[in-house]
Amino acid sequence: MEMVKRPRRLRGSEVLRKMVRETRMDKSSLVYPIFVKEGRGIREEIPTMPGQYRYSVDTMEEKLEALADAGVGSVMFFGIPDHKDEVGSGAYDENGIVQKALRKAKEQFPDLYLITDVCMCEYTSHGHCGVLCGHDVDNDRTLDLLAKTALSHVEAGADMVAPSDMMDGRIRALRECLDAHHHYTTPIMSYAVKYASSFYGPFRDAAGSAPSFGDRKTYQMDYHNIREGIKEALLDEEEGADIIMVKPAMSFLDLVVKVKEAVHTPVAAYSVSGEYAMVKAAAKLGYVDEDKIVCEMAASAYRAGTDIYITYYAQELAKFMDEGRIG
Ligand code: PBG
Repeated sequence: MEMVKRPRRLRGSEVLRKMVRETRMDKSSLVYPIFVKEGRGIREEIPTMPGQYRYSVDTMEEKLEALADAGVGSVMFFGIPDHKDEVGSGAYDENGIVQKALRKAKEQFPDLYLITDVCMCEYTSHGHCGVLCGHDVDNDRTLDLLAKTALSHVEAGADMVAPSDMMDGRIRALRECLDAHHHYTTPIMSYAVKYASSFYGPFRDAAGSAPSFGDRKTYQMDYHNIREGIKEALLDEEEGADIIMVKPAMSFLDLVVKVKEAVHTPVAAYSVSGEYAMVKAAAKLGYVDEDKIVCEMAASAYRAGTDIYITYYAQELAKFMDEGRIG
């Protein structure tokens, strides 16, 4: 048979397959999200996210150490406060849970890169991502509080802030506030392309942040839309975002591709709690091979163009990369 082009020629051995591999990954691009809560001696497994825990400030050390040992250099903090109120004051309290965790983490692990999620839903009694006006979030009043939150994180030791609230104009508000306090060099990673998604279900259990009424559809995007996602990405880049995030990851990789073409910043993809929970559940039932699925999900996010991968599997992935199972 006359056939000049035989694609299988390049698949003949592991050495060759690795030589021609198109997507290469590195541990330095992994970010691990961690939940910290008030109290002492707490290491509570999250029922909907087996293998993930809520740590108190004194116990998070063991996890941070394990991450650092595995070569995961960046962590993103989520706080679970003791008290919530209408205006989410725990978010910008200098003795708030995230602020305390940051001070401790900075002291114990000066080389670890500390990112914070900037949002109000974990701190408001109604569970929405800002202050309310009637039954909707008041965009412009929320901006001041988000900026205050970001500033208090940076002053407590955050190396980077990541607003996830989806208010209009928040990148500009944060940038102006940080700059006014001489934090010109602190980068902002914007959750710019964030959809109203059921994939956040387990997270809301973990953080106790489900909205007490309604949903987040007046601020997070409709998942039928792609042009709107690009619009958000471009707006946030213009307002000064240093990194643009797409969230969730797995079902939104088309957005990663498009956003990567549209912006000039690095792109991040967040493989969210629902993705983690689905893999865990299917693996527990023996329906899938957890390690292999996790590698494939990560590789597809990088293949789509993500530069940074935020995942609850960061520590495992670092190990798989060391072992040459992916990368
Ligand atoms: C806060 C926030 C959420 C997530 C990250 N930041 C929840 C939400 O928007 O409802 C979700 C992360 C995950 O599901 O892993 N707004």
